[in-house]
Amino acid sequence: MVLISNSTNETEKIGEKIGKNLRGKEILALWGTMGMGKTALARGIAGFFGLKEMVSSPTFAIMNEYRNSRINIYHFDMYRVCSEEDLESTGFYDYIDKGIIIIEWSENIRESLPETAKNIIITPGGDEKRRKIEIEGIKIDKDIVG
Ligand SMILES: Nc1ncnc2c1ncn2[C@@H]1O[C@H](COP(=O)(O)OP(=O)(O)OP(=O)(O)O)[C@@H](O)[C@H]1O
Ligand SMILES: [Mg+2]
Repeated sequence: MVLISNSTNETEKIGEKIGKNLRGKEILALWGTMGMGKTALARGIAGFFGLKEMVSSPTFAIMNEYRNSRINIYHFDMYRVCSEEDLESTGFYDYIDKGIIIIEWSENIRESLPETAKNIIITPGGDEKRRKIEIEGIKIDKDIVG
């Protein structure tokens, strides 16, 4: 499914819609270049579970963990991950099945992405603020699309 976002806020809303349809152990592989809105989308997903504020807190960690009584979210930024060895040292494999995994810069771990990962591909939509967000393997409720 392809959704169009026209603003940061709309990207967050799309993230919330994705969050609504997650069961809690998905691996979400986000694709898209710098500034495409991967973190904005992650903020929306976490926001659905009431964890929005945590995503906006700045940090240099490769993995940020957001959790409450409902959910564990492991938010990876693979920007600086360049090898399988790097990836293993982040503990990535230990988090599989422990919660929702959100991966930014999937491009950098392309060869190591688990087969069960669901791809979310963000590309420019023509205008400065416009984005095409392609979502694979996650149902988005029809009534809330748009
Ligand atoms: N439709 C849109 N969706 C998301 N962000 C948008 C949109 N239009 C403009 N922006 C702006 O683009 C930037 C997106 O930043 P964000 O940190 O979410 O991107 P990112 O893909 O995570 O980048 P990075 O690769 O650096 O991690 C923000 O400054 C946001 O305000
Ligand atoms: Mg980001």
